[in-house]
Amino acid sequence: MPAGSPADRVLVALDVEALGDAERLLDCLAGTLTGCKIGSQLFTAAGPRAVEAARKRGFGVFLDLKYHDIPNTVAGAVRAAARLGVSMLNVHASGGLAMMRAAADAATKAAADFGTARPVCLGVTVLTSLDRTALHREVGVAATVEAHVLHLAERAREAGLDGCVASPQEVRALRLGLGRDWVIVTPGIRPGGGEGTDDQVRIATPCAALVAGADYLVVGRPITGASDPAAAAAAIVRELGGS
Ligand code: C5P
Repeated sequence: MPAGSPADRVLVALDVEALGDAERLLDCLAGTLTGCKIGSQLFTAAGPRAVEAARKRGFGVFLDLKYHDIPNTVAGAVRAAARLGVSMLNVHASGGLAMMRAAADAATKAAADFGTARPVCLGVTVLTSLDRTALHREVGVAATVEAHVLHLAERAREAGLDGCVASPQEVRALRLGLGRDWVIVTPGIRPGGGEGTDDQVRIATPCAALVAGADYLVVGRPITGASDPAAAAAAIVRELGGS
């Protein structure tokens, strides 16, 4: 998944009910974007066929299943994901060092065993739908969101992961703290002039997220909920300086 041109940096979140819906979106976005994100909704409904559909159309796939389990189970899931040929996958950084190490090792071994490229392995830090109050009262973490995101990202790096998922609001601090090579993927993107924020709390415009130092922007409803998804995606690419 190259993060070269603006078009390569926008990953459309295929949060739809059925494979046919995802295929229609992919057909209409081919030529505008090159990457997509398949999460728990579509993968639960359609399974590996969703990954195949995207890859067949030339899209790189970020498999966003946010694994959070004991190390052996996560390692097995990462191996199965690598076998599908996904470019990027993620595990919850709050699952601990042993779990993240197992994920990183499994990705390396699977790539060697199957002769595929090693998927980029990310740690999910703090969901973009949580703010400081929810993090404290509901999750039991007293630190600020930014401090907790940085803490989890540092543990993810220690475990051998390649990057993390965080909100646009922590990107600058992450880039400063973890350096240029750390891959930063950010959801919670709402284009300038857009209407609502849906259930997202820690948000930013595409441009602000990129300027802060994000490598990839995950954009769902602003594209998939638009009356013309290709035009909505093209407008975001243009906002990022692409054509
Ligand atoms: O529709 P929207 O642009 O809000 O979609 C954001 C996508 O990013 C969703 O698929 C959601 O599951 C995902 N995501 C997130 N926050 C995270 C990790 C992933 O919103 N921390």
